[in-house]
Amino acid sequence: MKKLIPIIAFVFIFMQCKKNTLETAQNNKITGFIADSAMVVSAREEASKIGVAILKKGGNAFDAMIATELSLAVAYPFAGNIGGGGFMVYRTNDGKTGTLDYREKAPLAASKNMYLDENGNIIEGKSTLGAMAVGVPGTVDGLFKVHEKFGSLPFSELIQPAIDLANKGVVVTKKQAERLAYYKHYFSEVNDTIILLDYDWKEGDTIKYVKLAKTLERIRDHGRDGFYKGETAEMLVNYVQKLGGIITKEDLSNYEAKWRNAIEFNYKDLKIIAMSPPSSGGICNAQIFKAIEPFDMASYGHNSLKSIQLLTEAERRAYADRSYYLGDPDFVNIPIDTLISSTYVKNRMANFSWDHATPSSTLKHGNIVGYESDETTHYSIVDKYGNSISATTTLNGAYGSKVYVSEGGFFLNNEMDDFSSKPGIPNMFGLIGAEANSIAPEKRMLSSMTPTIVEKNNQFYMSVGSPGGSTIITSVLQTILNVYEFQMGMQDAVNAPRFHHQWLPDVITMEPKGFDSLLVNQLQEKGYQIKQENSVILGKVDAVLRLPNGKLEGGADYRGDDKAVGF
Ligand code: DON
Repeated sequence: MKKLIPIIAFVFIFMQCKKNTLETAQNNKITGFIADSAMVVSAREEASKIGVAILKKGGNAFDAMIATELSLAVAYPFAGNIGGGGFMVYRTNDGKTGTLDYREKAPLAASKNMYLDENGNIIEGKSTLGAMAVGVPGTVDGLFKVHEKFGSLPFSELIQPAIDLANKGVVVTKKQAERLAYYKHYFSEVNDTIILLDYDWKEGDTIKYVKLAKTLERIRDHGRDGFYKGETAEMLVNYVQKLGGIITKEDLSNYEAKWRNAIEFNYKDLKIIAMSPPSSGGICNAQIFKAIEPFDMASYGHNSLKSIQLLTEAERRAYADRSYYLGDPDFVNIPIDTLISSTYVKNRMANFSWDHATPSSTLKHGNIVGYESDETTHYSIVDKYGNSISATTTLNGAYGSKVYVSEGGFFLNNEMDDFSSKPGIPNMFGLIGAEANSIAPEKRMLSSMTPTIVEKNNQFYMSVGSPGGSTIITSVLQTILNVYEFQMGMQDAVNAPRFHHQWLPDVITMEPKGFDSLLVNQLQEKGYQIKQENSVILGKVDAVLRLPNGKLEGGADYRGDDKAVGF
């Protein structure tokens, strides 16, 4: 049951905000915020403003990334973090691309069956709630790696606005107050003291994050060691161990974020630059885009019967491969080139039929011959120099493991649940994994986070990304298609109702009210199972689009408190 709780929670929170806005969003063409040359779109206005202030004073997109990420750690404790991890995809103004993997790792003392009881059954909640769920955080090291390679302003200038914000306090929004009220009881279940967020916070209250400000000051003054060693590390390790967890000082001091090549592929005349493993997003979307490329998507119409069928069948096949082949590339050998080749994908689609659904029960991962196997937040930034970044960062579930290091003022992730605790048993997002994503010391857990940059005519075109667990991949996919195939602007593309299929469970999840009953009936007649009532959130996309006149249009998702700011 505990595995279902975060999913039910998403339903609760996002149903609230959908009620008012979805119908309006569907019927009226909405233009997003337009800026001349630079923009930050993130989950909180405070963070977007701080990022833009850095861009205004001459900082580049990477400087703004550091400031924005740290400000989200203050203003958006639901997912913004220093106790979690993430991925960043970049494209510099001279067209160079790459990615940074600051994903969490399993602690040294982790083991394959650590979430199973003596009978080999999953111990409910152990990988999602409390100290055993915590992976070794990567965010702070990631930000220092970014600064070392691309930073143009001193780190102290980039972190100071987050420190000031934490001391000044952040006003609670309506949606935040609802989330806090919903999760409150977990905070007391997991922690041994009453934590800062565990009060009866109401909309309009101001929360001051004084302890977090002190931690950020230690990071400002001592660099990465301000988090991974010394006082902060001591607080973190002592508290996690007190609550029965296994993270050690050695785990913290060993942590290193990694630069990795992007997954790059073409879709028609677009070049898509996406995250490589340990994210599954780049490979899955490469497969889906390749699968639909031979079809005339635009002529089918947005969210029409044919476009839903085609995307569903492509998604089903991609997620089946995800489940079998993908894991941490430092531990498993992934046949990336084959998986994203047009020939392989075309072959996978060979049994696709317009007449009826392919049941997932009859579909396994593809056979690759000669292959030897050995709650999240996104922001997009473009600067006036033409550099762009797309970054997604997470604690995994809402407020992560709910473990709050009170002395240091921050939550710790529950990213360990993204491993496959037992083959064939779904994780929190219903994803099934196999050996490639089994737990091992210092291994990174497979992710669905899909920060993506799109290039057209050798120029920056879009920066897109989303939270939403397994639905991130398909949310990013649909947003890009909405702009490119269905001629929407960025805000419209973000607002448009979304659907999702992930092989197993064999069901198309649709945003409630976004799809009419005739269409749903037609899909059901073809053998598709539809989940529409009480469906989970399908992403919360933040994106930037370069318009034909060179200006930028932001797409800030109305499903949250997200905001585009720029100049
Ligand atoms: O890395 C992943 O795929 C998950 N930990 C992401 C979690 C997430 O998106 C939760 N937010 N809604």
